[in-house]
Amino acid sequence: MIGGNSLSAASITKNLGTRFIGQSVIYYPSLTSTNEVAKQKAQQGAVEGTVILADEQTAGRGRLKRVWLSPRGNIALSIILYPNMAHLPSIIMLASLAVVHSIKAVAGLNSQIKWPNDVLINGRKVCGILIESDVQGNTVNYTIIGIGINVNLKLADFAEVPPDATSLTDELGRDVPRPSLIRCLLVEIERLYSVLSTGGSVYEDWRDSLVTLGRKVRVNTGEAIYEGVAESVTRDGGLLLRNMDGGVTRVVAGDVTLHD
Ligand code: BTN
Repeated sequence: MIGGNSLSAASITKNLGTRFIGQSVIYYPSLTSTNEVAKQKAQQGAVEGTVILADEQTAGRGRLKRVWLSPRGNIALSIILYPNMAHLPSIIMLASLAVVHSIKAVAGLNSQIKWPNDVLINGRKVCGILIESDVQGNTVNYTIIGIGINVNLKLADFAEVPPDATSLTDELGRDVPRPSLIRCLLVEIERLYSVLSTGGSVYEDWRDSLVTLGRKVRVNTGEAIYEGVAESVTRDGGLLLRNMDGGVTRVVAGDVTLHD
């Protein structure tokens, strides 16, 4: 049932109205990680736009080798793409923008992006995105967009969840229909992906949706920690940090803590 809250392949694909994103959905009540299964399917040549969807992940993965908690009630999905090398940096941007647009359209909530692609509501993280690509030389064999959204959960019930997280239920005081949110997300991802393939850009919208710019930040890359003012982002997604000594550091990946 599309208006309900239970997930199935048909609840997503029926009359979806996309050309290829989400035309094939493989649904699992429970699995290790949708990104892991998506990788296997991509290696077996799955059609572009195939979605791996799970009600629950038992080994959800986050960025920087973290664990992503993914109990029932959340959205955990991965999308298989075969982009051009030139479009690879924009995939991070379009994924987070599509989440922001869909949360607004379906739940009516404003959200922002914390560089590079965490989605926040009222300063708390509601969505994490993990992009994993297989690249050989100048060829992208595949890219997986993995999206985890805290939807119908009261996070106070989960002691393991960090205090800076939130869910759509916690923000709204009511549940949100997951199939509607997923369908909107897939339509939006296809729309933004087509912007790239027709020579357009998603960079400006992504940059303007960032809460990070102009703020004092601490960036943990997993190997080093940088502190400074987040000055701007480059067209390939890097963060330019004005250091205390006046120099500029370009960071390509990391976890940002905002300071005021
Ligand atoms: C992060 O913020 O660290 C990224 C979290 C990404 C979680 C999603 S849930 C669906 C997909 N499958 C995974 O194992 N991870 C991503």
